[in-house]
Amino acid sequence: MVSTPAFTAAELEAETTRLFKAFLHVDCTPGKSWDYEACRKFAPLTLEINRLKQEKDAVILTHSYVEPEIVYGVGDFKGDSYFLSLMAREAKAKMIVFAGVVFMAETAKILSPDATVVVPDRGSGCSLADSLTGDQLRKLKAAYPDAAVVCYINSTADVKAESDVCVTSGNVYDIVSALPQRRILFVPDRLMGENIRTELKRRGVDKEIITSDGTCIVHDVFDAAAVADARARFPGLKVVAHPECTPEVAAVADFVGSTGAMMKYVKTSEAPYYLMLTECGLVGRLQVETPDKHFIGGCRLCPYMKLNSLEKVRAALAAPRPDQIVTLDENIRRRAARCIDRMFELAPRD
Ligand code: 13P
Ligand code: SF4
Repeated sequence: MVSTPAFTAAELEAETTRLFKAFLHVDCTPGKSWDYEACRKFAPLTLEINRLKQEKDAVILTHSYVEPEIVYGVGDFKGDSYFLSLMAREAKAKMIVFAGVVFMAETAKILSPDATVVVPDRGSGCSLADSLTGDQLRKLKAAYPDAAVVCYINSTADVKAESDVCVTSGNVYDIVSALPQRRILFVPDRLMGENIRTELKRRGVDKEIITSDGTCIVHDVFDAAAVADARARFPGLKVVAHPECTPEVAAVADFVGSTGAMMKYVKTSEAPYYLMLTECGLVGRLQVETPDKHFIGGCRLCPYMKLNSLEKVRAALAAPRPDQIVTLDENIRRRAARCIDRMFELAPRD
């Protein structure tokens, strides 16, 4: 039995103040505001969601790209794909709400099969995960039978089930280097594949990298010429990029890494300005957690991540519709779990 929310004026005021204090420096999504009035609107929702979580024995996992009112208003765990998959595996809750995109929620279901895993919006795909089906990968494998099949975590459960090992942006170079095979079939990110070639060459690791043709629609458009222009305008600027960017952009960045590593880099640097070549939600997190740093804009919005909202989180938690519940064929789930478990075995420990 779910209680009807009835919050006192004092509870609503305290929640509004909590959110307002957290969001003082946030302006990461054009046209949106986190001012006191906005926080007043968030407050009844965040209070209700946090109450529902307890009633339903649920945890909310939030990727850093979703809006700050979700990450800081109701999230239990926030971070990059690797961290969130670890949290999904360890979650003891009956229900997992994944505020991110569908492949991340599928990964949570693969790792926590007994939990009810829900997504706020079933339309929250990913241009990388949606670029390759299990059938297409089977055909590619037939063309390269001697290759180790490595899938980026931004892939469907079907693709994971067909792969030898999964990787994330935080461990891809170490895991590919550690594999015994020289030939690697890396799917579905062509640009990350190119970045792997460059990085392994730099490390003196001899591998042949074959890729499929997916790209991230957020990261594939950043431009190396715009980086040069920004450097001219902001002396001392640090350029921080995700490995889903083009090799040309990666080559001119000061740091390239997962969203978790990008945050760590900014937190431990002393530069006057930062250009974050990634999704704007990460800038929102940094504006909350490093309010003294200056971000010069230039980030981009992921249309899939931005489908998440507090209203949809509440609906998925209170009474999930069938389209919000993640279900997987058990055979696919088991095979996909093997590929993710192999990642946990090979990933370097922090
Ligand atoms: P991270 O694992 O680095 O958070 O990346 C996920 C993602 O979708 C980047 O676009
Ligand atoms: Fe997929 Fe790119 Fe969005 Fe990440 S930012 S979820 S890779 S479309």
